[in-house]
Amino acid sequence: MPVIRFVREGRDVECYPGENLREVALREGIELYGLKGQLGNCGGCGQCITCFVSVMDEAGQEALTARTPVEDSKLRRRPEDWRLACQALVETSVMVLTRPQVRLPDADNRLKAARQAPLPTGPVAWPAPPEAEELTEEDKEAATTDDEG
Ligand code: FES
Repeated sequence: MPVIRFVREGRDVECYPGENLREVALREGIELYGLKGQLGNCGGCGQCITCFVSVMDEAGQEALTARTPVEDSKLRRRPEDWRLACQALVETSVMVLTRPQVRLPDADNRLKAARQAPLPTGPVAWPAPPEAEELTEEDKEAATTDDEG
C-alpha cells in the first residue's frame, strides 16, 4: 500500500490507494492546519485554502491525482509543488510537508533524512481478505429457502 511520509511530523503512514490525503492525515492525528484552519475550515470542500501541503519529491507529483480545477484556481499564486490536501488522492507513495507556509526547524537535516530512507513505490500489498466463514447447516437451509421463495 502507499506510504505517506509526513516530513514535519517525522511519520510514515500507510493508506489505501485512492484515499484522500486530508482524511488520512486527520485520521492519523497529523496537524494539517495552521491557526486559521484550526479556528475554521471548510471540512474538505476546497474553499478555505488552509490545508496546504508541499510535495517534497519530484516523483511525488505523480503520486497524487492531478490538480483539480479548484486547486488551479485557489493555488494560482502559490508554489507549483503545493497542493490542497482535501483535493488530492494518494495513488502511490509520496513525501509531503504539512503547513509549508510555516518554517520547518532544522529543515536541511530533516529533509535530507527524509529523502535518504527509501519510500516503497506502492501499492505493494493489499490486506488479506477475511476468511470465508463456514456456513452452518441452518444458514445453508435458510439460503435454500430464500432461493425457492
Ligand atoms: S479543507 Fe478547506 S480547502 Fe481543504
